[in-house]
Amino acid sequence: MLLNSCLPTCLLCTCLSGSVYCDDTDIKNIPALPKDTTHFYGRFNKLTNIKKGDFAGLNHLKRIDVTGNRISSIDEDALRQLPELVDLMVASNELVQLPELPKTMVSIDASYNKLNSSGIKTEAFKDLNNLEYLYLAGNSLNYVPLPLPESLRSINLQNNNVQQINDDTFCNSKDIHYVRKALELIRLDGNPINLSKTPSAYICLPHVPYGNY
Ligand SMILES: *[C@@H]1O[C@H](CO)[C@@H](O)[C@H](O)[C@H]1NC(C)=O
Ligand SMILES: *[C@@H]1O[C@H](CO)[C@@H](O)[C@H](O)[C@H]1NC(C)=O
Repeated sequence: MLLNSCLPTCLLCTCLSGSVYCDDTDIKNIPALPKDTTHFYGRFNKLTNIKKGDFAGLNHLKRIDVTGNRISSIDEDALRQLPELVDLMVASNELVQLPELPKTMVSIDASYNKLNSSGIKTEAFKDLNNLEYLYLAGNSLNYVPLPLPESLRSINLQNNNVQQINDDTFCNSKDIHYVRKALELIRLDGNPINLSKTPSAYICLPHVPYGNY
């Protein structure tokens, strides 16, 4: 089914069954999107920011993929009101701050940006109870963003600046029976941390993190 092919956006981009593909089209702004857009792809363009109104009212939007642009800012309230958003792909941009995200998120990829730990709000991921995949490799994070939701299956923090973790980063020092069984993959390689120094930080995990021992 072709959607709203009369919108100018669908002349520049390809609109197909809820998906709008604007990859490699040299766009500098998010174009006006059909109301029933479920997936937006704007990879490898010249986007520099995402504004409050860009996705407003797109109540069926599930995925935004703007990998490989020059995005340095996303307005704080540009995404949090999207009721069905599950995937946000903003890898390879210039973000210094992550905006607030809706609780429906399953996968966030903000790898290879310019995030340091002050660019991620305190407890930013705590209430994202569906979050399974968190990719933050290639930034300048000084610590693991805490707390991590129980739903998390994988956290990629390779090539950051994490220097320490403790017994409560992944586990619970007050409850030796606690098991975090979902968290199958932790990447801490490429950080200035010696993981041998905290042997009891991994007791609740199915596998020890990748990194230097
Ligand atoms: C974190 O990044 C921001 C934005 O780039 C910068 O202003 C700030 O100085 C950085 N903080 C640290 C501790 O490096
Ligand atoms: C890491 O720490 C352990 C225990 O303190 C030490 O034996 C090991 O040599 C250290 N490894 C590196 C690469 O510094």
